[in-house]
Amino acid sequence: MHTDKYRKETQSIRNQTPRSDQREHATPIYMTSSFVFDSAEHARALFANEQEGNVYSRYSNPSCDEFVQKIVALEGCEDGISTSSGMAGVFVSMAGILEQGDHILVSRSLFGSTHQILTGIFPKWGISHTYVDIDRPQDWEAAITSKTRMIFVETPSNPGLDIIDLEWLGELARKHQLILNVDNCFATPVLQNPADYGADLLVHSATKYIDGQGRAIGGVIAGKSRYIDELRFFARHSGPAMSPFNAWVFSKSLETLQVRMEKHCQNAAELTERLQNVAGITNVKYPFHPDHPQYDLARKQMRAGGGIVTITLEHGFEQASRFIDSLKMISISANLGDTRTIATHPASTTHSKLTEEERLKVGITPGLVRISVGLEHPDDIEQDIRQAVKQSQS
Ligand SMILES: Cc1ncc(COP(=O)(O)O)c(C=O)c1O
Repeated sequence: MHTDKYRKETQSIRNQTPRSDQREHATPIYMTSSFVFDSAEHARALFANEQEGNVYSRYSNPSCDEFVQKIVALEGCEDGISTSSGMAGVFVSMAGILEQGDHILVSRSLFGSTHQILTGIFPKWGISHTYVDIDRPQDWEAAITSKTRMIFVETPSNPGLDIIDLEWLGELARKHQLILNVDNCFATPVLQNPADYGADLLVHSATKYIDGQGRAIGGVIAGKSRYIDELRFFARHSGPAMSPFNAWVFSKSLETLQVRMEKHCQNAAELTERLQNVAGITNVKYPFHPDHPQYDLARKQMRAGGGIVTITLEHGFEQASRFIDSLKMISISANLGDTRTIATHPASTTHSKLTEEERLKVGITPGLVRISVGLEHPDDIEQDIRQAVKQSQS
């Protein structure tokens, strides 16, 4: 059941696979690898694309379709596909379109595995890239060549929380007829919709805020139909399909995404204020704090500052390690976007495959700790951080 007449928040709750004759309220999980045909002729017609319908869950599945249609509504896009992980989404969104000889322009602040695709996999297939810095917009146009087909960015970036001007980027992509592809994982569709600025494709790791409770791995790509059609062909035959069970988890989670994001943002903004001037922390970074270098831009294109705060410990790696080891409640994990607050040391984990020089260029210093602020009481989050900072100084 599609409910286009409602606002997108309502659609993310009410868009549901048609109710069966069992009269269930919550949507069932279509945990099936294949679908039966009414007849030999029905099977032939489905395979010949003369009729629409489910054939095999690597191609399509009602649980996955329900999840995708909610994301498409929330992002204001034309179409989408789900993938087995966020990285499968990132990979498919590039590899499904780019050809040998193509070039991709990329913002330097990127998730570690995306960097690995660009530097460790694509060169084998003759796809090249150029990294550009967000604080040097003049470099972007100069880096575009006759081979450039796509621009890929993360905003806010993981873990540096750099913000890229989507309006400016949309215009640049249009001017040079490039495909603009945005990893919208940190903002979620609740805080930012890249399609409003002309993004052709956007990618999410559903593993993060979309699940929101640290249970399942998944990804989703949304965007313009002409590109999604190409990616659907690529994904159907190369096979990074989302499990129907995970799609069901994500679809149910989308019903609460709006309220969870409001509280994540509220807790993160509160924590940012409370951690100012704590001895041992030299920097607290948050997109909606006036000290953030792109504060005005963040306020222009995001509805709130998100759930991630970074802190920098004064004495680098040693202190960051002691800080993490001293945490009592906050989880030490590489995930983010969970109801439970998580601390991650990017330089030694998620971004450890980058060289030190590459890390420093995107602000990943040895003392940087990423805090994915959860939904616990802000007093408890603050107290745990304060006591761990204190311990880390001794
Ligand atoms: C910004 C960003 N994009 C993509 C991914 C990859 O997602 P997944 O772990 O679901 O493959 C992550 C994971 O941390 C991420 O932070």
